[in-house]
Amino acid sequence: MSIKIISIVGNRPQFIKLYPMIRALKEPIRHLVIHTGQHYDNNMDKAFFETLGIPGADYNLGVGSGSHGWQTGEGIKRIESVLIKENPDWVLVYGDTNSTLAGVLASAKLHIPIAHIEAGLRSHDMNMPEEINRRIADICSSTLFCPTETAVKNLKREGCEANIINSGDVMYDALMLARERVETGILDTLEIRSDSYYLATIHRAENVDDKTRLKRIVDILIKLSEKRTIIFLAHPRTEKELKGYDLKGLRLVPPLGYFDMLTLLQNAKKILTDSGGLQKEAYLLKTPCVTIRENTEWPETLNGGWNVLAGIDEQKIINAISTSDYDLALHSPKLFGDGKAAYKIIDYLRRIK
Ligand code: UD1
Repeated sequence: MSIKIISIVGNRPQFIKLYPMIRALKEPIRHLVIHTGQHYDNNMDKAFFETLGIPGADYNLGVGSGSHGWQTGEGIKRIESVLIKENPDWVLVYGDTNSTLAGVLASAKLHIPIAHIEAGLRSHDMNMPEEINRRIADICSSTLFCPTETAVKNLKREGCEANIINSGDVMYDALMLARERVETGILDTLEIRSDSYYLATIHRAENVDDKTRLKRIVDILIKLSEKRTIIFLAHPRTEKELKGYDLKGLRLVPPLGYFDMLTLLQNAKKILTDSGGLQKEAYLLKTPCVTIRENTEWPETLNGGWNVLAGIDEQKIINAISTSDYDLALHSPKLFGDGKAAYKIIDYLRRIK
């Protein structure tokens, strides 16, 4: 039987999650994409669709930037009118962004069944906008596709009554699909050698919007760059805040496409980041990670020392950067599935409709 599914996305990590899903969402399923327009700079948006071979969105709602309430509110209004027109059998929402939240609230109010992909993750830190978004997404969804067993346990512990399925992680699917393309010419372009540099990315609101915290992070990175090259990937939010700040030896690089990003990550000596997705991609590519946060939604990556939570504690960061103590026996990509999560998700939705 033919069913109509709408995916709601709005920013970079969601375009990557869509990449394996598009391959699984074939005929006779009618699949439409709503792009809220939360990310809109070419290298954060269009370039991703192009490199990943994802057809353009069926609806681009042009929401753009704003405060959390404004961005979410505009998203709800604009998504609602598309959902009323299209009346899908399912709405798929991804991850934990303001676009996820807007999609969830618009759909729930219209009584459209929601499936949340990447459900059950918890940082247990309600100061993070993402933690609020993911908890509400889980409460409002009828089907929850978890990337890991830890996520399943989190939902069960909370007494969640929806269908809970450990599908594996669609980001792992994306990584497996990208694998054969992970060796672009980006090292030559940047004139760096494998293992000669640290990669750094900072974009989380709690690190960037607090000027003192951002300055402290940047000062630590500058200090580290005296010993080894640091490629600092700028997110527009971070770049804006750093205008006029002397970055000294840090090499600021604009946001990269997915394949370049994976190449740079795979060849880095280590990565320092506050991203959720990158912690896990680093783990899967066996690049040790130092996380500039106090918590993580991906506790599996901490096993065997592959990821270290260092917050903004300079000594902890230096210790984590200096160690080479990683336990290969405790490295287990299987914790994130088998690279076929997208197919499992679509099979499941077709069967229960
Ligand atoms: C959002 C998600 C975060 C995800 C990240 C990936 C929320 C609450 N956060 O954070 O979970 O990890 O995307 O990048 O949804 N901006 C531009 N151009 C763009 C996009 C953003 O200039 O294409 C600037 C705007 O000034 C904007 C700021 O960056 O105000 C922050 O963007 P926003 O979409 O609010 O959040 P992100 O930090 O990107």
